[in-house]
This record gives sequence, structure tokens and C-alpha cells, in this order.
Amino acid sequence: MVGGRHNYWMATVQNAATVEVLAAQPGSVETDLLIRPVFEGEPLPADDSLVVATAGEVSRASTSGEFKGKLYDLFFTPIIDPRWKARRIVLAGLGRRSDYSVDRVRRVATAAGLAARQRRHARVGMIWTDPHDLEHTSQAIVEGLILADFDAAQYKTDEDRPPRLRGLHIVLAPDAIYDARKTASAAAERGRITGESCNAARALANEPGNTLTPRVFAERAAALGSDARLAVEVLDEHQIAELGMGLLLGVSRGSAEPPRLIVLRHSPPGVPATPVLGLVGKGITFDSGGISIKPADGMERMKDDMAGGAAVICAMCAISLLNAPIRVVGVVPTTENMPGGRAIKPGDILRGASGKTVEVVNTDAEGRLILGDGLWYAQRLGATHLVDVATLTGACVVALGKITSGLFGRPSEWVDVVRRAAEHAGDRIWPMPLFEEYRDQLRSDIADFTNTGGRPAGAITAALFLKEFAGSIPWAHLDIAGTAWAEEPQPYLPRGASGVAVRTLIELAWTSNTWPR
Ligand code: BES
Ligand code: MN
Ligand code: ZN
Repeated sequence: MVGGRHNYWMATVQNAATVEVLAAQPGSVETDLLIRPVFEGEPLPADDSLVVATAGEVSRASTSGEFKGKLYDLFFTPIIDPRWKARRIVLAGLGRRSDYSVDRVRRVATAAGLAARQRRHARVGMIWTDPHDLEHTSQAIVEGLILADFDAAQYKTDEDRPPRLRGLHIVLAPDAIYDARKTASAAAERGRITGESCNAARALANEPGNTLTPRVFAERAAALGSDARLAVEVLDEHQIAELGMGLLLGVSRGSAEPPRLIVLRHSPPGVPATPVLGLVGKGITFDSGGISIKPADGMERMKDDMAGGAAVICAMCAISLLNAPIRVVGVVPTTENMPGGRAIKPGDILRGASGKTVEVVNTDAEGRLILGDGLWYAQRLGATHLVDVATLTGACVVALGKITSGLFGRPSEWVDVVRRAAEHAGDRIWPMPLFEEYRDQLRSDIADFTNTGGRPAGAITAALFLKEFAGSIPWAHLDIAGTAWAEEPQPYLPRGASGVAVRTLIELAWTSNTWPR
């Protein structure tokens, strides 16, 4: 299946769906299932073509209360009119009009797309006749449908799996003007690439530790990156040692697998030399905790401890495919965290590439160590603005749960930029403080600082550790420990890797006119 390089991207994003924007009567659309979003308490009028084509079934469902349009409610019914091309429609609840957001459109599209696949419909068309904010809604619809097409069960040999989506349509009002169709088409293409990039990140995070070792992770990042026309460089353990990256090397010592440093560059011709966005992602392909070993219960989840790295790699691919008008460097240090005979031990001292020394009090606080060297390297590559993404602390899960990622950083202007990008992109994130008083918790008697600050404010002290390696440039840190993996399935998100932060990082690449300098 995997032939040329471009096919590698296709295999990883798992999607070959075509996306088309039409201005047409719903009945004329070549598709299996039409999706019609409906606001709560706003039933379709009796003369709506869907009501007629279903012989009134749609109206009966509203009158009887079977379908009220509550958020994520779905009502499937056959189309009776033989002249219609689609055989089924689904009414998809958008909730109250007063609670409307583009984010809801994306999520409702995913919920409907997932249900469509369960019912074996491979071709779906979403009807969207509201011309207001067509650009953002079109992008959100396609993102949502592509996100519904993700298949987490890659290693199941069972043949009887839900079909993949093959043809996606956005169906605008038949009288939509040429400009509207053009706007929607361009936005749909952006949505397709964004959604595919999220799915690529989910596919990587879903891979277990035995199939995705640091070397394999780097190979796959390189293949994805060159498919996306990024400049790719992978540094091996010798080059990592030459750079003096004692923190990354220290974490890798307990493993039989060598570490890698993945470097991706997007340098479009003709853009100014600065700013340079530096994206740094945690790439622990398996976190056993090392000598400070984790309990057995739930340890299997630690295969996704590279979700931040995957988000950086896949966001960079989208940034390149979408020709973002800015320079971006991506740095992903990757290693296993294992308790082998040569592993670092509690009390050991490590020296990072920046020259700072760390007393390793707990070998399970490994993410901040490898990110310390990663943040340093991104600056060496010329980054003027930093964002790191990491499944960093259980404490962040305690603080914000599994819905919201923690946002840290400075100055506040830069943190606000990242926060707005996330809001736009539909990733839930919330700012957390970095008051200097917390830094006392990292005091070491023997080195510059320890790698853990104890239980209180664990997410904050982890972020303060990273801050020591961010130099003096704007830096933001996203702790995605709670959000990278969905344990409880949601209507818009099945169990498994979520692809969190990918859309935020992509969005960020278009906001440079608002950045602090
Ligand atoms: N990868 C974990 C953080 C994590 C925990 C991610 C739960 C997802 C779910 C990280 O490397 C870790 O082990 N952190 C420790 C730090 C502690 C030893 C200071 C933690 O949070 O317990
Ligand atoms: Mn750990
Ligand atoms: Zn970890």
C-alpha cells in the first residue's frame, strides 16, 4: 500500500477522502447520507425539501419530541422521494442558537460522521445554507468529518470494520453566489489538511512502544515531513552527545534503544528572517518511569507520552502544506524512559546542552529533562518565539481534568496569543500561574536545581523547570497530560488519542502580526 513518499503521508493520515463544495438542491447530491444540522427548538418548516422528501417523517420526529435538536442528538430517516440521490438523511442537533459556536459545528460534524460510518455510509454530505461566517464553518465542517474518519484499531485483523469516508460534500444553498463557493472551497481544503494532520498525530500517539521506538518515530517523522516539503534532519546518539545534550542522553541511558533528535524546518521563500516560531514536543515513546518505576496499573497508557512530539511534527506538516507565511522550526527529542542497568538513578547529576546542571530526584520526571535540551536547541536554530507541547504531569490532570490543557509561559502577551489561537482552533486550554515563589521547590543542594518540586503545584513547578531553558524569549508551554488521550468516549471523540494541540499550533502560524517583539 505504501509506495511513493506521498503515499506515506496518505497511509499515516489514513484518509483519501475527496472534499467538494456544491451549491445545489440536496436531492441532486451524489452521496449516501445527507447531514442536516438543526438548532434546538427550531423544527424545519413544512415546506422544507427534506420534510417533503421524507414524506413528513422529519416533522413527525420534531412534533413527537423524538428529535429536539439538542447538542449531538441524531435522527436518521430514509428518503422516500426516488428522485433524490441520497437514500438517508440525519438531522444533527446543534443545541440552542444562543450557544452557537464554530467549535460546535466541528463537533457536530464529527458526531454525525462517526454515526454515519457505524451505519455503513461511506459518502456523506453536510448541508450548510447559512452564508454567515462561511469561511470558518466550512473549515470546521470538513475538519469535523475528517476527524470522524480516524480508525484507532489499526492492528485488528477483523474484516468487518466501519467503512472509511470516501466522498465528502458541503452542500450550500442552491443560490449561493460564486464568491461564497470559492471561499468555502478554499476553507474546506484548509480543513482537510488540518483534519488529516490531527489524524496523523493520533495515529502516531496510538502506536505502541514496540512498534514506535525512537528510531521508528524519527523515520516516520522524516517521511511525513518530506511528503509535506519540510526540511528534515534526524540527529543520532553521537550527534546528540556532540551537542552536549546530557539531559536527553541521561534519560535514554536506561533503554536498549538509542535516542533521536527530530528537527523539521519550514522556511518559505521571501518571508522575513524573523520572527521564527520554535515548536518543541515531548517525544517519550514509552514512559515506564525508569528506576522511579510507575505502578503496573495503567502503565500501558504511557505509550502516548510522545503525543506532544506527534502534535509538533504533524502541525509542521500542515503549516508547510498550507504555505504559512512564516519561518517555523520543530524540535522533538525522542527516547524511551526505561529502568535498564545503565539507567540514571535518583540523585544523579546531569548537565544539559545549555550548561545548567540538574539533580535527578525522580527519574519519572523525564519529560522536562529532554525538553530542556529541546528548548535550548530550538533557540540555537534561531527561534524567536517558543511553544512546547508535552504530556508532562499527572498534576495537570488533577488541576484541569481531561477536557482542558494547561497553559503556562511569559510574557502574558505571548500566552494570550497562544490562548486565542487555541480558542479559534477548538482546543480547550486555560492559563496557569508561574509565580516565582514556587521556584523554591526546585532548590537543590548540589546542582542548579532538582527535576521535581514535590506534589504541591506539580504542573507549575514542571513548567518553572522548563522556563529555566527558555532563555529570555517569549515562551509558552502546553501541558496535555490530561487531554492527549480520551478515556471516556465523547460524541465528538472516540476513546484513544485525541490529536490535541495540533490545530492550535497550525492556527498560531497565521497570527505573527499579533506577536510581542
Ligand atoms: N508522562 C508522565 C505524565 C503523565 C501522567 C502523562 C499521567 C499522562 C498521564 C510524566 O513523565 C510523569 O511521569 N510525571 C510525573 C512527575 C513527577 C514524578 C514529578 C507525574 O506527574 O507523576
Ligand atoms: Mn514520567
Ligand atoms: Zn513522561
